[in-house]
Amino acid sequence: MPSDHEWLVYERWAEEKGSDLIHFDVLGTDIVVLRSLKAASELLDKRSSIYSDRPFTPALSVLLGFDWVLASFPYGEKFRAMRKAFHTSFQPSVVKDYYPLHRRAAHQLLKNILSAPDETPQHLRYMAGGVILDIAYGIKTKPRDDPYVEAAERALSAVTTVVSPSARLFDMFPMLLYMPSWVPGAGYKKTAKFLQNYSRDILENPFQFTKEALANGTASPSIATTMLSQLGKNSSQEDELLAKQLTANVYIAGADTTVCAIQNFLLAMMLYPDTQRRAQTELDSVIGCDRLPDLSNIDALPYVNALVLEVLRRVAFRVAWGVVAPLGFPHRLMVNDSYEGYFLPRGSLFIGNIWAMLHDKSVYGVDAQDFNPQRFLDHDLPEPDVVWGFGRRVCPGRHMARDSVWLAIASILATFNINKALDEKGEEIEVVDDHISGIVAYPVPFKSEITPRSADSVMLIQSTEIYD
Ligand code: HEM
Repeated sequence: MPSDHEWLVYERWAEEKGSDLIHFDVLGTDIVVLRSLKAASELLDKRSSIYSDRPFTPALSVLLGFDWVLASFPYGEKFRAMRKAFHTSFQPSVVKDYYPLHRRAAHQLLKNILSAPDETPQHLRYMAGGVILDIAYGIKTKPRDDPYVEAAERALSAVTTVVSPSARLFDMFPMLLYMPSWVPGAGYKKTAKFLQNYSRDILENPFQFTKEALANGTASPSIATTMLSQLGKNSSQEDELLAKQLTANVYIAGADTTVCAIQNFLLAMMLYPDTQRRAQTELDSVIGCDRLPDLSNIDALPYVNALVLEVLRRVAFRVAWGVVAPLGFPHRLMVNDSYEGYFLPRGSLFIGNIWAMLHDKSVYGVDAQDFNPQRFLDHDLPEPDVVWGFGRRVCPGRHMARDSVWLAIASILATFNINKALDEKGEEIEVVDDHISGIVAYPVPFKSEITPRSADSVMLIQSTEIYD
């Protein structure tokens, strides 16, 4: 299996084979990579009731102690209960209630960029983390050095160790879990034992904060507050555990992906400055220069919307959920099946090559590789929905994620210019349009110059209030 830029390697293999579907065997497990939207919708969407299991992930669930991560839950009762709870808190009618929290985070982001533009990647992490901790627990984070954001970031960094070769060894050979300490991978076992603390911290501490706030009468509205208030006298320990695990899942699944999307936006703005100017012109004419865009303006800003869709379309190959590790987070088939003459045995793992689907020239045109928001306005193109995955495993945070990404992008465009940074000779430092493979594949780190568009922009940012 390729360990780097998997989405490109899979696409090349499929092209060489002239097929929608490539198949190989890793240590006795059948792996099937789906290249086309047609094959993915037929199997992962339409036949979702048999394609929604996950493979066992010992490195994550056993060694690191993240057995509460929904993405790795097998298909069954626990999975259904958690998906239902996610739906209750993240369906379109409910995510509207989170608008003020997105606004608060976006305004804080602008203030942070204004005061320290070179630290923008860090500010983005605080923005995404801040929104999530607010929505999930009612925690109002500090603009920097916040203990809850730091703890959550430590938990995320623990999760990312599952892509290391020694962790993959446990996913491929689960029996290593029960082997003595001198066998290969023992070093990782030791590290993982320590990292379990990070899993516990993110699961317990913010939830405890909300419980105490609720008891003191100081709790802000949040998912944890609602779920805890609904726990009646007859509720079981499982009910509380569900609330605790749900809220912790929001950070683990939501922070990195959101930041990654906005990082990709910054990169695209440097590589395609004309699209940046066009979006700014639209914002100036619709919103004006004396207020900031808000989520209620979405319908009035077609070009900005198209730009966000284009960011999401291109982010697909950076979100490598399905292609993370030999036995990472693909969909697992639960019974024998067949498709176009292929026999598909029970236990096969299915990986949707989302990147290939969203770069299909027959849908997006010959310039599918380019960043071109206009394509969504000129042609009757479908929204790039597969960026959120498939069937019963589709991203349950997608509506909120889209709001978060939209508002951050529109707010930055309204107030800042994003350009390539200059070196000591005053020449532009080139940026590469490439990505690091990982659970979420980020753009290769780049330097940018982010400057306020005008004196009015500075005043506008400074005048925003951060409501608690
Ligand atoms: C731009 C941001 C995001 C992108 C591109 C994204 C994309 C994805 C993808 C591709 C999957 C895998 C679906 C599959 O297996 O077919 C997924 C799963 C998941 N996402 Fe997101 N996501 C984003 C943000 C979020 C946010 C903000 C949350 C939380 C509110 C979230 C929660 C989850 C969870 C819990 C899963 C696991 C679902 C399961 O296994 O049943 N995601 N996401």
